[in-house]
Amino acid sequence: MSHYQDSSRGTSINDDEESQRLMEKHDEPVEIHNRGSPVVTCKRVYMVLLHGIVLVLIAVLCIDIDPKKISNQRPTRGASWSPVREHIEYELNAGHATDHHKHSQYSGWPSPEQDEAWDDLMRPVYFNATREELEKAGESFENIAELEGGGYPASLGVYHELHCLRQLRFWLWKDRYYGDLTEEQDDYFHGHLDHCIETLRLTIMCNGNPAVYSFYWDDPTADHPATQSNAENVCAKWESIENWAYERRISTDPEIVRPPMDEMMH
Ligand SMILES: *[C@@H]1O[C@H](CO)[C@@H](O)[C@H](O)[C@H]1NC(C)=O
Repeated sequence: MSHYQDSSRGTSINDDEESQRLMEKHDEPVEIHNRGSPVVTCKRVYMVLLHGIVLVLIAVLCIDIDPKKISNQRPTRGASWSPVREHIEYELNAGHATDHHKHSQYSGWPSPEQDEAWDDLMRPVYFNATREELEKAGESFENIAELEGGGYPASLGVYHELHCLRQLRFWLWKDRYYGDLTEEQDDYFHGHLDHCIETLRLTIMCNGNPAVYSFYWDDPTADHPATQSNAENVCAKWESIENWAYERRISTDPEIVRPPMDEMMH
């Protein structure tokens, strides 16, 4: 046993004795009063306060007061403001592209109808944001692009993602959409499309689609079973976003002010 341990033990014994003495002091009046009629005592007040503190602590631990804390509720506080948010409606949607033989107007072998559907989908990609909207959304104004004629070119996350998806679709059918590419163009597309994949990966992981998928044999001779899902997902009603976007849309190729080089901040 070292000297230090001995002395620290000595201290704790002293502390215990001290606390015992303190408790005795508080206990005395309790016993005296218990013999008579029950009245408010220091010990009772202390116990009530202690219970109160414990209950408050339990409540604080149970109630989600910190939006960054792990929670299975979607946090709404702390999310950036967006002009479309209050217009978005939600619905249950059981749409799953598990049937490889069924195509929507956006998928399948490219056709003029399909190109038109994608054009309609992407038409409101840009809107004219006001300064107040960008401030509320928390955007930075350093070197910000402005529209010729006032306002700021802006887009929504969902349109950025759709844009990426369309670029990947163009690449899938690149003979049709690009023809022969130079090596430089090919390099450009690899860089751009890699960024698109990254954008989509982030959104997919952010949304964390919880739908359950299972597998079934649609063809007993096939190598693998096919995918199926009946899951109902909570989805944005696309029209509620699209209606807003069409109301606010500007050209898909808007005129943007190019500031003189020496006015740009680096
Ligand atoms: C953008 O909106 C503002 C009003 O907020 C308007 O003054 C401006 O002309 C618009 N710009 C374009 C290019 O439509």
